Order: sequence, then C-alpha cells, then structure tokens
Amino acid sequence: MLKINIISIFPEYLKPLELSLLGKAQEKGLIEINIHDLRKHTDDVHHSVDDTPYGGGAGMVMSPQPWGLAIDEVSESSEHFDLIVLTPAGKKFDQKMAKNFASKNNLIFACGRYEGIDARVSQYYASKSNFTVYEVSIGDYVLGGGEVATMVIVEATARLIPGVLGNPDSLKEESHTLTNKDGSLVEYPSYTKPANWRGLDVPAILLSGNHGEIEKWRIKEAERRTQGLTEE
Ligand code: 6GU
Repeated sequence: MLKINIISIFPEYLKPLELSLLGKAQEKGLIEINIHDLRKHTDDVHHSVDDTPYGGGAGMVMSPQPWGLAIDEVSESSEHFDLIVLTPAGKKFDQKMAKNFASKNNLIFACGRYEGIDARVSQYYASKSNFTVYEVSIGDYVLGGGEVATMVIVEATARLIPGVLGNPDSLKEESHTLTNKDGSLVEYPSYTKPANWRGLDVPAILLSGNHGEIEKWRIKEAERRTQGLTEE
C-alpha cells in the first residue's frame, strides 16, 4: 500500500484530498494519506518557521530545524522513503514521474512557502541511504507554495494505482499514454449522445461501426491535437 505523508504550514489547504477519487481510494485501503502541520515542530512562542536569508535579499527562507523534526517523525521506520520537495526550481513533473511515484511505498511531500526551504534539508536527506530526494515543480509559473502542486502530483499518482480507478481501461487510451512512433500524444476528441446537438453532428465515422477506420481517425485526430499544442 502507498503511504503518503504531507507536511505543510497550511494543512487545511490539503483537505480536498479527502474527497472523490482519493477519498474512496483511502476508504478502500489502497492508499493512506496523512497531513502534518509543520508548526507542531517549532518550540518558540510564535511558532516561526522562517528566517531572513544568509547573504541578504528579499523574502524569507524556511528554517531547516522544523523540517528535520517533521520529516524524522514520519520516517521513523527502517523502510525506504521518497522525499518530494516542492519548488518552482525543481524538475518538471510529468506522467513518467507519476508512474515512478505510483510504484513506491512511502512518499513524503514537503510543501515549501516563502522563498523556499533551507537547501540543507534536501542535502541532508539525500545523504541518507534509506531516502531518495526529488525537487519537483509542476510547471513554469510561480505559486504561493507547494500545497497545490502536491495535490496535483498526489492525484496524478494515486489514479495509476491498481483499483483506484473504477474502470482500469480508462488508463489505456488517455492523454500522454496513447503513443505512436513519434512519442506521446494527447487524447482524441470524444462524443456521446445526442448525435446532433445545437446543429452540430458527431463525426459520421464514429457512427459507422467500422472499428478499423475509427481507430485510424482517432490516431489522426490525436496527432492533429498534439500538433496544435506545439504551435505558438
Ligand atoms: Cl512545486 N511550488 C511553487 N511555489 N511554485 C510552483 C511550483 C511549486 N511548481 C510550479 N510553480
């Protein structure tokens, strides 16, 4: 079973993970998600988690001590842990990374805020033999913190775990998994009833019953959509 621990200064922000697909996956015992408040690991009266950057500059940096205590607490066993540190400076998240995370047993998400987490936190855990550390971004834009990025990664990862999706065939033909010789394609357009809606017909080929021709048409449409995405 995949165990996911998420550490944040805004644990309430991650509440949506209890809903829908991921809520059901937890009820079924397919995954376990635990959310932790970083501030529980502070000892000063103000529960501060950040400080000014060495070397000067704008903004605040998250202090290493509470992060160390929080990560130690969720990794007490002798198992292997994959620590995912969310930062806009990280490696871009993609479907391949989701598949890799879905194959793991213990994921820890460290949601940074402010100008990021003191760099020694990643350095320290990367040096431990039972840890693999990933610095991950979800795209080329800056968010206020890693919480939303964590939700994106957890959702993309959890749905790849057997039993999480009601219909496992849904995984077969979807965007970024349907491939041709050129690599990854996005999904072809889908239609359902009625056959005519507000004057717009469903493409006739889809009503033809000719599965060979339908498959060819879908690949052509997926290629056309993929092409459109890479044009400016
Ligand atoms: Cl992981 N964090 C923040 N703060 N901004 C981001 C991001 C992560 N990924 C894209 N932008």
